[in-house]
Amino acid sequence: MNQLTSSNAAPLKGTITVPGDKSISHRSLIMAALSIGESTISGLLEGEDVLGTAAALRELGADIYKDDTGVWHVHGVGIGGLKQPSAPLDMGNSGTGVRLMMGLVATHPIEVTFTGDASLSSRPMKRVTDPLTEFGAEFLGNDEGTLPITVKGAKMPLPITYALPVASAQVKSAVMLAGLNTAGNTTVIEKIPTRDHSERIFNYFGVPIKLEGDNIIVTGHAELTARKMAVPADPSSAAFLMVAALITEGSDITIKNVGINTARTGLFTTLIEMGGDISFENKRQECGEDVADIRVRHSKLSGIIVPKERAPSMIDEYPVLCAAAACASGETVMRGIKELRVKESDRIAVMVKGLKSCGINVTEFPDGMTVKKSIANGTHEIETKLDHRIAMSFLILGLCSDNAITIDDGTVIETSFPGFTNLMNSLGANMGFQT
Ligand code: S3P
Repeated sequence: MNQLTSSNAAPLKGTITVPGDKSISHRSLIMAALSIGESTISGLLEGEDVLGTAAALRELGADIYKDDTGVWHVHGVGIGGLKQPSAPLDMGNSGTGVRLMMGLVATHPIEVTFTGDASLSSRPMKRVTDPLTEFGAEFLGNDEGTLPITVKGAKMPLPITYALPVASAQVKSAVMLAGLNTAGNTTVIEKIPTRDHSERIFNYFGVPIKLEGDNIIVTGHAELTARKMAVPADPSSAAFLMVAALITEGSDITIKNVGINTARTGLFTTLIEMGGDISFENKRQECGEDVADIRVRHSKLSGIIVPKERAPSMIDEYPVLCAAAACASGETVMRGIKELRVKESDRIAVMVKGLKSCGINVTEFPDGMTVKKSIANGTHEIETKLDHRIAMSFLILGLCSDNAITIDDGTVIETSFPGFTNLMNSLGANMGFQT
């Protein structure tokens, strides 16, 4: 039985940290695997998604292991040095993993088949295969452009200039990674800024990125320098604890060492505008990323209209914002987010259905939803559709629900937040698997 239940909690109190940033963890492994020499990575997210990327990189020739102190060591193969894997690479649930890895192999003369779970196999891949085809790579698969897909990497890749048709850091990063093993300048034109972890980590590993207006320019065949990398805690994981503390009376928590790159902190801004008592302490920079300790205290929240242009900086946080919105006076409007329909699940449809079944007043639109303050009374089992963020968001809502909220499958949380329920319970929550 994988059902997991969350019910009314005592005040949440304590100082904790959350697992490493998922985006930065994938990129750290990939950059280290492309460097000659040994890189070390501390704070790596050991969720299934990132472990899948590590396993794929091992298949492509990198030597990757974890030592007794929890630090990861990577001996890279150098740009152009990826070897032909002997079996398909199973990227599990991870859109970031598969899209970044496709970019990487597209300009190596190898043939790689990518597979994934039911959720990943329904997600659009044309958004990466289209630009990667321009480098000279070939893609064999079905007409829908979904996994499984076999990539025949270009033998003589040509540099491209590509204007992103969707605001997507995964697509931007796939093109940038393909540019690494391509002679000349590869340019991505990004009109709507998305998370810039690739730009930052390219610089950190010694590949200078030129930024000219909306153009992000990668010069191929640079030599990467093996580095010591420290991954900050994931703001998208911290988000669950922050909302939990805001909506649970008497709470006061501090989350240490969280990434506060402004390309990721749209939810923090939104929660502060809603009246959240959130403060950032001990702000600093580590390995090219901004980090801080975040203190959050229970607050009376009010609904707001979330500006559409804020979406890229909080794209993964709308499900948990729904939990905050259900406890906030008035109405919270979330529009301009149709990208949510192609995440690990159709997050608009799945949230709306789940919230309604808990008795929450919610209206669905093609590009978003509005949520009105209501008392969650849900005893129904929530369908999470293999989506970790849906699973955690409903468990957070359970903290202030009249009755307990049960989700159908708690194991999917392992993809991004191993130890979530134990951590929540250590702060005072009441979450457990059904026996
Ligand atoms: C990510 C980019 C975002 C985000 C995902 C991680 C990344 O996806 O939703 O969880 O690491 O580049 P899109 O690029 O599809 O917006």
